[in-house]
Amino acid sequence: MTSSNIEFVYQDRIFEIKNPDPNEILLNYIRTKLKKIGSKNGCSEGGCGACTVVLGELKNNEINYKAINSCITFLPTLQGKQLILVEDLISKDGTLHPVQQAMVKYHGSQCGICTPGFVMSLFSMFKQHSKFKDDEIKDSIAGNLCRCTGYQPIIKAAKSLKNKNKTDHFTKNKNNTINLLKKINNRSIVIYNKGKKYFAPRYVQELKKILKKNINANFLSGGTDLSLSVTKERKDISSIIYMNSIKELNYIKNNNKYIEVGASTPLIELESYIEKYYPDFTKILKRYGSPQIRNVATVAGNIATASPIGDCLPLLLSLNAQVVLQDFKKSKILFLDNFFISYRKTKLKKGQFIRSIRIPLFKGNIFKSYKVSKRFDDDISSVCAAFNLEIIKNKVQSTRIFFGGMAEIPKRAVYCEKILSNSLITEETVHKAKKALEKDFTPISDMRASRLYRLEIAKNLLEKCCAEIKQKKLISVYF
Ligand SMILES: Cc1cc2nc3c(=O)[nH]c(=O)nc-3n(C[C@H](O)[C@H](O)[C@H](O)COP(=O)(O)OP(=O)(O)OC[C@H]3O[C@@H](n4cnc5c(N)ncnc54)[C@H](O)[C@@H]3O)c2cc1C
Ligand code: FES
Ligand code: FES
Repeated sequence: MTSSNIEFVYQDRIFEIKNPDPNEILLNYIRTKLKKIGSKNGCSEGGCGACTVVLGELKNNEINYKAINSCITFLPTLQGKQLILVEDLISKDGTLHPVQQAMVKYHGSQCGICTPGFVMSLFSMFKQHSKFKDDEIKDSIAGNLCRCTGYQPIIKAAKSLKNKNKTDHFTKNKNNTINLLKKINNRSIVIYNKGKKYFAPRYVQELKKILKKNINANFLSGGTDLSLSVTKERKDISSIIYMNSIKELNYIKNNNKYIEVGASTPLIELESYIEKYYPDFTKILKRYGSPQIRNVATVAGNIATASPIGDCLPLLLSLNAQVVLQDFKKSKILFLDNFFISYRKTKLKKGQFIRSIRIPLFKGNIFKSYKVSKRFDDDISSVCAAFNLEIIKNKVQSTRIFFGGMAEIPKRAVYCEKILSNSLITEETVHKAKKALEKDFTPISDMRASRLYRLEIAKNLLEKCCAEIKQKKLISVYF
């Protein structure tokens, strides 16, 4: 079934918007059309969390609650989901939700501009986790900024929720919500509105047909990059194909040789899956944007953006990942090594999309990665480094070392690798390998870091990697 109207669940009923503007931003709709002004606009770029709302999505017959930034979400992507705003947390009899009660009790608010966003992030944590540790509390509010209360009262409020009964009015109404979501879950969307087009196919087959006629359309996955051209650059996007509506592309598979990640899989799912294989990959993903960003953003979007400071890129490159590309006729597999051409330019052709990403499993290797940014949470890298080393009997056999933030594309440290290969990791080798990085890279100075700082960091990260390998006694001869 195809429709030009979108339907979503809001306040226990199905809401319909007829032929919406494909570029309309959800926060704008909430504040100006739904006339709910609890969600605030602090930055319009996903950076402050004041606009956080929660979406309920059906997954295995349960509702998956996700905090998202409504300021960088296109309205039509609401199709088939439940929208929950801060106003909806209060029960019909006027009782505050346990999260709101905790914020009041522990004085978690002063001026209040950030408060609705914090409440919604904590609400999503409260609903998603039956138990949560202190780390999960910190992670859940990593995408919310507060300038005046300070974080301690908010963290105390969150900790007090650990022992609270998890049954709230959303739990009591769950079956009704699931039934409503099922009713609206079975349609593809095609919108033509004032010269703008929006497609949300449900199957790859449907996507191919759309592509054949709309070769210049922009793919939209999580929208955490694409939406900023509307919210910050004030541009119109005339033709959009929404990829995250294709459930067929939302998967993580593993055949013992590689992990395959479907293009519409959100980063938050990869973050927990990959920990068992590459704990450092998870460590970097935990510092990637915020939960609001990772709940929707995809690896495919990160690769296609081709930013020199895209966090997944050096990691994937050092793991020798491949991308499966597809157009309306055929598919093709390319090593990521051969995918990036120059600053934000890739080998993706018009009408071609990333279907999946394959991440090889290097069973005996050591994989380490590091991100250095001005702020620990929710900040873009100044430098991101990934080391994939095969070490046998204390000798480095093979290496794949990549850095982000050091060149116009994420780049391999070829000279550095030459020094390390077939060597014992001694103080002298590390010194020479650090020096070789000067030959590998001529980074630029920009607002995130100066040229010299970047180079120094790259050297220090290499040293840190070697020292950690030694510390864990993975080899025994360094220093
Ligand atoms: C607040 C904030 C924090 C951020 N923090 C980080 C960070 O810490 N690290 C980091 O690396 N990035 C960060 N980003 C950047 C952004 O989140 C990433 O680039 C993200 O991975 C983009 O994925 P997406 O699914 O949202 O892509 P989208 O925004 O949907 O798309 C991005 C680009 O990729 C194209 N595209 C999307 N899917 C496909 C596909 N399947 N095939 C072909 N082309 C496709 C789109 O057409 C578009 O050109 C941040 C962004 C924000 C707003
Ligand atoms: S308004 Fe700042 S994250 Fe949305
Ligand atoms: S209460 Fe004022 S910014 Fe958080």
